[in-house]
Amino acid sequence: MTDTAFKPRVFSGIQPSGGLTLGNYLGAMKRFVSMQAEPFETIYCMVDLHAITVWQNPTELRDNTRELCAGFIASGIDPEVSTLFNQSQVPEHTQLAWIFNTVARMGWLSRMTQFKDKAGKNKEAVSVGLFAYPALMAADILIYHATHVPVGEDQKQHLELTRDIATKFNHDYKVNFFPITEPVIEGAGTRVMSLRDGLKKMSKSDPSDMSRINLTDSPEQINLKIQKARTDSAGLPSELSGLEGRPEAINLVNIYASLSDISVERVLNEVGGTSFSEFKKTLSELAVSKLSPISKEMSRLTKETTEIDRILGRGAERARAIASPILKKTYEIIGMIQ
Ligand code: TYM
Repeated sequence: MTDTAFKPRVFSGIQPSGGLTLGNYLGAMKRFVSMQAEPFETIYCMVDLHAITVWQNPTELRDNTRELCAGFIASGIDPEVSTLFNQSQVPEHTQLAWIFNTVARMGWLSRMTQFKDKAGKNKEAVSVGLFAYPALMAADILIYHATHVPVGEDQKQHLELTRDIATKFNHDYKVNFFPITEPVIEGAGTRVMSLRDGLKKMSKSDPSDMSRINLTDSPEQINLKIQKARTDSAGLPSELSGLEGRPEAINLVNIYASLSDISVERVLNEVGGTSFSEFKKTLSELAVSKLSPISKEMSRLTKETTEIDRILGRGAERARAIASPILKKTYEIIGMIQ
Protein backbone atom coordinates (compact mmCIF):
# COMPACT_ATOMS: atom_id res chain seq x y z
CA MET A 1 0.00 0.00 0.00
CA THR A 2 1.43 3.42 -0.89
CA ASP A 3 0.37 6.75 0.61
CA THR A 4 -1.66 7.54 -2.48
CA ALA A 5 -3.72 4.45 -1.73
CA PHE A 6 -5.18 6.15 1.34
CA LYS A 7 -8.48 7.95 0.87
CA PRO A 8 -8.31 11.70 1.53
CA ARG A 9 -9.72 11.69 5.03
CA VAL A 10 -9.68 14.53 7.56
CA PHE A 11 -9.58 14.03 11.31
CA SER A 12 -9.35 16.64 14.02
CA GLY A 13 -10.37 17.09 17.64
CA ILE A 14 -11.07 19.70 20.29
CA GLN A 15 -10.97 19.20 24.07
CA PRO A 16 -14.26 19.74 25.91
CA SER A 17 -12.41 21.44 28.72
CA GLY A 18 -14.58 24.53 28.92
CA GLY A 19 -15.47 27.15 26.35
CA LEU A 20 -14.48 27.72 22.75
CA THR A 21 -12.28 30.74 22.07
CA LEU A 22 -11.73 32.85 18.98
CA GLY A 23 -8.41 30.96 18.73
CA ASN A 24 -10.20 27.61 18.45
CA TYR A 25 -12.59 29.09 15.91
CA LEU A 26 -10.02 30.73 13.62
CA GLY A 27 -7.24 28.18 14.09
CA ALA A 28 -9.36 25.06 13.80
CA MET A 29 -13.13 25.19 13.44
CA LYS A 30 -13.24 27.49 10.41
CA ARG A 31 -10.90 25.14 8.55
CA PHE A 32 -12.91 22.10 9.69
CA VAL A 33 -15.94 23.67 8.01
CA SER A 34 -14.17 24.53 4.76
CA MET A 35 -12.74 21.00 4.44
CA GLN A 36 -16.25 19.49 4.48
CA ALA A 37 -16.16 19.15 0.72
CA GLU A 38 -14.89 16.78 -1.95
CA PRO A 39 -12.45 15.08 -2.05
CA PHE A 40 -12.43 14.87 1.75
CA GLU A 41 -14.33 12.69 4.13
CA THR A 42 -14.40 14.55 7.47
CA ILE A 43 -14.33 13.18 11.02
CA TYR A 44 -14.44 15.54 14.02
CA CYS A 45 -14.18 14.56 17.64
CA MET A 46 -14.76 15.96 21.10
CA VAL A 47 -11.69 14.51 22.79
CA ASP A 48 -13.05 13.93 26.31
CA LEU A 49 -10.36 11.33 27.10
CA HIS A 50 -7.71 13.96 26.44
CA ALA A 51 -9.53 16.47 28.63
CA ILE A 52 -9.31 14.22 31.72
CA THR A 53 -5.51 14.18 31.62
CA VAL A 54 -6.03 17.18 33.92
CA TRP A 55 -8.87 17.20 36.48
CA GLN A 56 -12.39 17.75 35.10
CA ASN A 57 -15.50 18.07 37.22
CA PRO A 58 -17.87 15.32 35.90
CA THR A 59 -20.95 17.56 35.58
CA GLU A 60 -18.94 20.24 33.83
CA LEU A 61 -17.32 17.71 31.50
CA ARG A 62 -20.76 16.47 30.40
CA ASP A 63 -22.05 20.04 29.89
CA ASN A 64 -18.88 21.14 28.10
CA THR A 65 -19.02 18.16 25.73
CA ARG A 66 -22.59 19.03 24.74
CA GLU A 67 -21.77 22.71 24.42
CA LEU A 68 -18.77 21.88 22.24
CA CYS A 69 -20.94 19.69 20.02
CA ALA A 70 -23.37 22.62 19.71
CA GLY A 71 -20.38 24.84 18.85
CA PHE A 72 -19.31 22.52 16.03
CA ILE A 73 -22.79 22.55 14.52
CA ALA A 74 -23.36 26.29 15.04
CA SER A 75 -20.02 27.00 13.30
CA GLY A 76 -21.14 25.07 10.23
CA ILE A 77 -20.29 21.41 10.76
CA ASP A 78 -23.12 19.36 9.29
CA PRO A 79 -23.49 16.08 11.24
CA GLU A 80 -25.00 14.50 8.13
CA VAL A 81 -21.83 15.25 6.15
CA SER A 82 -19.16 14.94 8.85
CA THR A 83 -18.86 12.22 11.45
CA LEU A 84 -19.21 14.11 14.74
CA PHE A 85 -18.76 12.25 18.03
CA ASN A 86 -17.09 12.12 21.43
CA GLN A 87 -13.95 10.07 21.86
CA SER A 88 -14.97 7.92 24.85
CA GLN A 89 -17.80 6.32 22.83
CA VAL A 90 -15.26 4.82 20.42
CA PRO A 91 -13.01 2.48 22.47
CA GLU A 92 -10.78 1.77 19.46
CA HIS A 93 -8.98 5.08 20.18
CA THR A 94 -7.64 3.84 23.52
CA GLN A 95 -6.97 0.35 22.20
CA LEU A 96 -4.72 1.71 19.47
CA ALA A 97 -3.23 4.23 21.90
CA TRP A 98 -1.93 1.35 24.05
CA ILE A 99 -0.15 -0.09 21.06
CA PHE A 100 1.31 3.33 20.27
CA ASN A 101 2.50 3.60 23.89
CA THR A 102 4.73 0.66 23.02
CA VAL A 103 5.90 2.29 19.77
CA ALA A 104 6.60 5.84 21.03
CA ARG A 105 9.88 6.30 22.93
CA MET A 106 10.20 8.00 26.33
CA GLY A 107 12.63 10.49 24.79
CA TRP A 108 10.14 11.51 22.08
CA LEU A 109 7.40 12.22 24.61
CA SER A 110 9.80 13.98 27.00
CA ARG A 111 10.58 16.50 24.29
CA MET A 112 6.96 17.62 23.84
CA THR A 113 6.86 21.32 24.67
CA GLN A 114 3.16 21.22 25.54
CA PHE A 115 3.85 18.57 28.21
CA LYS A 116 6.74 20.61 29.57
CA ASP A 117 4.55 23.76 29.70
CA LYS A 118 1.59 22.03 31.32
CA ALA A 119 3.65 20.03 33.81
CA GLY A 120 5.77 23.05 34.73
CA LYS A 121 8.12 22.42 37.64
CA ASN A 122 5.87 19.76 39.12
CA LYS A 123 6.52 16.80 36.79
CA GLU A 124 6.18 14.26 39.61
CA ALA A 125 2.59 15.27 40.35
CA VAL A 126 1.03 15.30 36.87
CA SER A 127 -0.91 12.31 35.53
CA VAL A 128 0.72 9.58 33.45
CA GLY A 129 -2.06 10.37 30.95
CA LEU A 130 -0.71 13.88 30.44
CA PHE A 131 2.67 12.41 29.50
CA ALA A 132 1.19 9.77 27.17
CA TYR A 133 -1.27 12.28 25.66
CA PRO A 134 0.46 12.54 22.24
CA ALA A 135 0.29 8.74 21.72
CA LEU A 136 -3.48 8.89 22.20
CA MET A 137 -3.59 11.81 19.79
CA ALA A 138 -1.70 9.77 17.18
CA ALA A 139 -4.21 6.95 17.73
CA ASP A 140 -7.15 9.36 17.23
CA ILE A 141 -5.81 10.20 13.81
CA LEU A 142 -4.42 6.86 12.66
CA ILE A 143 -7.36 4.70 13.79
CA TYR A 144 -9.16 6.29 10.79
CA HIS A 145 -6.14 6.24 8.46
CA ALA A 146 -6.65 10.01 8.30
CA THR A 147 -4.44 11.75 5.75
CA HIS A 148 -5.02 15.41 6.70
CA VAL A 149 -5.26 17.05 10.12
CA PRO A 150 -6.30 20.72 10.36
CA VAL A 151 -5.02 22.32 13.59
CA GLY A 152 -3.58 25.53 14.99
CA GLU A 153 0.17 26.09 15.15
CA ASP A 154 0.42 24.84 18.78
CA GLN A 155 -0.34 21.25 17.68
CA LYS A 156 2.46 21.05 15.11
CA GLN A 157 4.88 19.12 17.31
CA HIS A 158 2.20 16.56 18.22
CA LEU A 159 1.54 15.96 14.53
CA GLU A 160 5.24 15.45 13.86
CA LEU A 161 5.18 12.81 16.59
CA THR A 162 2.16 11.18 14.92
CA ARG A 163 4.23 10.90 11.75
CA ASP A 164 7.14 9.42 13.72
CA ILE A 165 4.87 6.81 15.32
CA ALA A 166 3.36 5.81 11.96
CA THR A 167 6.82 5.60 10.39
CA LYS A 168 8.24 3.47 13.21
CA PHE A 169 5.24 1.12 13.25
CA ASN A 170 5.40 0.65 9.47
CA HIS A 171 9.16 0.11 9.66
CA ASP A 172 9.16 -2.30 12.64
CA TYR A 173 6.41 -4.51 11.21
CA LYS A 174 7.58 -4.10 7.58
CA VAL A 175 4.21 -2.81 6.37
CA ASN A 176 2.86 0.36 4.83
CA PHE A 177 -0.24 0.31 6.97
CA PHE A 178 -0.48 3.74 8.60
CA PRO A 179 -0.46 6.89 6.43
CA ILE A 180 2.07 9.65 7.06
CA THR A 181 -0.40 12.37 7.94
CA GLU A 182 -0.25 15.91 6.52
CA PRO A 183 -0.77 18.72 9.04
CA VAL A 184 -3.00 21.49 7.66
CA ILE A 185 -1.80 24.69 9.37
CA GLU A 186 -2.61 27.57 7.05
CA GLY A 187 -3.70 31.19 7.03
CA ALA A 188 -3.64 34.16 9.39
CA GLY A 189 -5.59 32.44 12.18
CA THR A 190 -3.25 29.59 13.07
CA ARG A 191 -1.81 31.39 16.10
CA VAL A 192 -4.28 33.79 17.68
CA MET A 193 -2.62 35.55 20.60
CA SER A 194 -3.91 36.89 23.93
CA LEU A 195 -5.55 40.33 23.72
CA ARG A 196 -3.54 41.34 26.79
CA ASP A 197 -0.12 40.02 25.72
CA GLY A 198 0.82 39.53 22.07
CA LEU A 199 3.48 36.98 23.00
CA LYS A 200 1.07 34.57 24.72
CA LYS A 201 -1.38 32.26 22.96
CA MET A 202 -5.09 33.06 23.37
CA SER A 203 -6.25 30.27 25.65
CA LYS A 204 -9.32 29.15 27.57
CA SER A 205 -7.09 28.49 30.57
CA ASP A 206 -5.76 32.07 30.84
CA PRO A 207 -6.94 33.44 34.22
CA SER A 208 -7.93 36.76 32.60
CA ASP A 209 -11.20 36.60 30.64
CA MET A 210 -10.21 39.90 28.98
CA SER A 211 -7.34 38.04 27.24
CA ARG A 212 -9.73 36.09 25.00
CA ILE A 213 -12.96 36.25 23.06
CA ASN A 214 -15.23 33.34 23.89
CA LEU A 215 -17.73 32.10 21.34
CA THR A 216 -20.37 32.58 24.03
CA ASP A 217 -19.52 36.30 24.55
CA SER A 218 -22.25 38.90 23.95
CA PRO A 219 -21.68 41.69 21.37
CA GLU A 220 -21.06 44.09 24.28
CA GLN A 221 -18.37 41.82 25.72
CA ILE A 222 -16.71 41.42 22.31
CA ASN A 223 -16.71 45.21 21.84
CA LEU A 224 -15.28 45.83 25.28
CA LYS A 225 -12.52 43.23 24.92
CA ILE A 226 -11.41 44.57 21.54
CA GLN A 227 -11.52 48.20 22.72
CA LYS A 228 -9.37 47.24 25.73
CA ALA A 229 -6.98 45.04 23.73
CA ARG A 230 -3.37 46.04 24.25
CA THR A 231 -1.75 47.93 21.35
CA ASP A 232 1.30 50.10 20.88
CA SER A 233 1.32 53.84 20.32
CA ALA A 234 2.09 53.82 16.58
CA GLY A 235 -0.74 53.67 14.01
CA LEU A 236 -1.37 50.97 11.44
CA PRO A 237 1.26 50.62 8.69
CA SER A 238 0.36 49.97 5.06
CA GLU A 239 3.21 47.48 4.61
CA LEU A 240 3.90 44.15 6.34
CA SER A 241 7.40 45.33 7.35
CA GLY A 242 5.78 48.03 9.50
CA LEU A 243 4.40 45.32 11.80
CA GLU A 244 7.79 43.90 12.73
CA GLY A 245 8.39 43.65 16.47
CA ARG A 246 4.78 44.69 17.20
CA PRO A 247 3.12 41.44 18.40
CA GLU A 248 -0.15 43.04 19.58
CA ALA A 249 -0.59 44.93 16.30
CA ILE A 250 0.17 41.82 14.26
CA ASN A 251 -2.36 39.86 16.28
CA LEU A 252 -5.25 42.26 15.67
CA VAL A 253 -4.44 42.49 11.95
CA ASN A 254 -4.25 38.67 11.74
CA ILE A 255 -7.62 38.35 13.48
CA TYR A 256 -9.14 40.82 11.03
CA ALA A 257 -7.63 39.00 8.02
CA SER A 258 -8.77 35.62 9.23
CA LEU A 259 -12.32 36.71 10.15
CA SER A 260 -12.80 38.37 6.77
CA ASP A 261 -10.94 35.72 4.72
CA ILE A 262 -8.53 38.17 3.14
CA SER A 263 -4.74 38.38 3.20
CA VAL A 264 -2.84 40.43 5.79
CA GLU A 265 -1.41 42.50 2.91
CA ARG A 266 -4.92 43.42 1.78
CA VAL A 267 -5.97 44.37 5.28
CA LEU A 268 -2.96 46.71 5.54
CA ASN A 269 -3.80 48.14 2.16
CA GLU A 270 -7.26 49.01 3.43
CA VAL A 271 -6.47 50.23 6.93
CA GLY A 272 -2.86 51.48 6.67
CA GLY A 273 -2.55 55.00 8.10
CA THR A 274 -5.59 54.78 10.40
CA SER A 275 -5.39 54.91 14.18
CA PHE A 276 -5.86 51.87 16.40
CA SER A 277 -9.01 53.31 17.93
CA GLU A 278 -10.61 53.52 14.46
CA PHE A 279 -9.35 50.07 13.46
CA LYS A 280 -10.65 48.54 16.69
CA LYS A 281 -14.15 49.83 15.89
CA THR A 282 -14.11 48.19 12.47
CA LEU A 283 -12.67 45.00 13.93
CA SER A 284 -15.36 44.90 16.65
CA GLU A 285 -18.13 45.27 14.08
CA LEU A 286 -16.63 42.51 11.97
CA ALA A 287 -16.15 40.17 14.96
CA VAL A 288 -19.69 40.74 16.21
CA SER A 289 -21.20 40.19 12.75
CA LYS A 290 -19.30 36.89 12.31
CA LEU A 291 -19.53 35.53 15.87
CA SER A 292 -22.97 36.59 17.11
CA PRO A 293 -24.97 34.26 14.85
CA ILE A 294 -22.73 31.36 15.96
CA SER A 295 -23.09 32.29 19.59
CA LYS A 296 -26.91 32.51 19.37
CA GLU A 297 -27.24 29.18 17.58
CA MET A 298 -24.80 27.57 19.99
CA SER A 299 -26.80 28.60 23.06
CA ARG A 300 -30.07 27.43 21.44
CA LEU A 301 -28.61 24.03 20.51
CA THR A 302 -26.85 23.50 23.85
CA LYS A 303 -30.28 23.25 25.50
CA GLU A 304 -31.36 20.48 23.09
CA THR A 305 -29.53 17.80 25.06
CA THR A 306 -31.55 14.85 23.71
CA GLU A 307 -30.83 15.89 20.13
CA ILE A 308 -27.13 16.48 20.88
CA ASP A 309 -26.81 13.06 22.53
CA ARG A 310 -28.53 11.45 19.56
CA ILE A 311 -26.09 13.13 17.14
CA LEU A 312 -23.11 12.02 19.23
CA GLY A 313 -24.40 8.43 19.47
CA ARG A 314 -24.91 8.17 15.74
CA GLY A 315 -21.55 9.78 15.03
CA ALA A 316 -19.87 7.21 17.30
CA GLU A 317 -21.50 4.34 15.40
CA ARG A 318 -20.25 5.75 12.11
CA ALA A 319 -16.78 6.27 13.57
CA ARG A 320 -16.61 2.70 14.92
CA ALA A 321 -17.53 1.31 11.51
CA ILE A 322 -14.28 2.81 10.16
CA ALA A 323 -12.10 2.29 13.25
CA SER A 324 -12.96 -1.30 14.07
CA PRO A 325 -11.55 -3.03 10.92
CA ILE A 326 -8.40 -0.87 11.14
CA LEU A 327 -7.84 -1.99 14.76
CA LYS A 328 -8.48 -5.61 13.81
CA LYS A 329 -5.90 -5.43 11.03
CA THR A 330 -3.42 -3.74 13.41
CA TYR A 331 -3.77 -6.65 15.87
CA GLU A 332 -3.24 -9.10 13.02
CA ILE A 333 -0.06 -7.31 11.91
CA ILE A 334 1.28 -7.42 15.47
CA GLY A 335 0.54 -11.14 15.81
CA MET A 336 -2.40 -11.15 18.18
CA ILE A 337 -4.90 -13.96 18.02
CA GLN A 338 -8.41 -12.53 17.57
P1 TYM B 1 -7.29 22.13 21.84
O1 TYM B 1 -8.56 21.60 22.39
O2 TYM B 1 -6.35 22.83 22.77
O3 TYM B 1 -7.61 23.15 20.67
C1 TYM B 1 -8.44 22.77 19.58
C2 TYM B 1 -7.91 23.38 18.30
O4 TYM B 1 -7.85 24.80 18.40
C3 TYM B 1 -6.54 25.25 18.04
N1 TYM B 1 -6.21 26.44 18.86
C4 TYM B 1 -5.75 27.58 18.36
N2 TYM B 1 -5.49 27.96 17.10
C5 TYM B 1 -5.04 29.21 16.91
N3 TYM B 1 -4.81 30.10 17.92
C6 TYM B 1 -5.06 29.76 19.20
N4 TYM B 1 -4.87 30.63 20.20
C7 TYM B 1 -5.56 28.44 19.48
N5 TYM B 1 -5.91 27.77 20.60
C8 TYM B 1 -6.30 26.54 20.20
C9 TYM B 1 -5.64 24.09 18.37
O5 TYM B 1 -4.42 24.17 17.64
C10 TYM B 1 -6.49 22.91 17.96
O6 TYM B 1 -6.39 22.68 16.57
N6 TYM B 1 -4.40 18.09 21.37
C11 TYM B 1 -5.48 18.84 20.77
C12 TYM B 1 -6.76 18.02 20.59
C13 TYM B 1 -6.60 16.73 19.85
C14 TYM B 1 -6.39 16.58 18.46
C15 TYM B 1 -6.35 15.17 18.24
C16 TYM B 1 -6.25 17.48 17.41
C17 TYM B 1 -6.64 15.48 20.42
N7 TYM B 1 -6.49 14.54 19.42
C18 TYM B 1 -6.13 14.65 16.95
C19 TYM B 1 -6.05 16.94 16.12
C20 TYM B 1 -6.00 15.56 15.91
C21 TYM B 1 -5.81 20.02 21.65
O7 TYM B 1 -5.53 20.03 22.82
O8 TYM B 1 -6.52 21.00 21.02
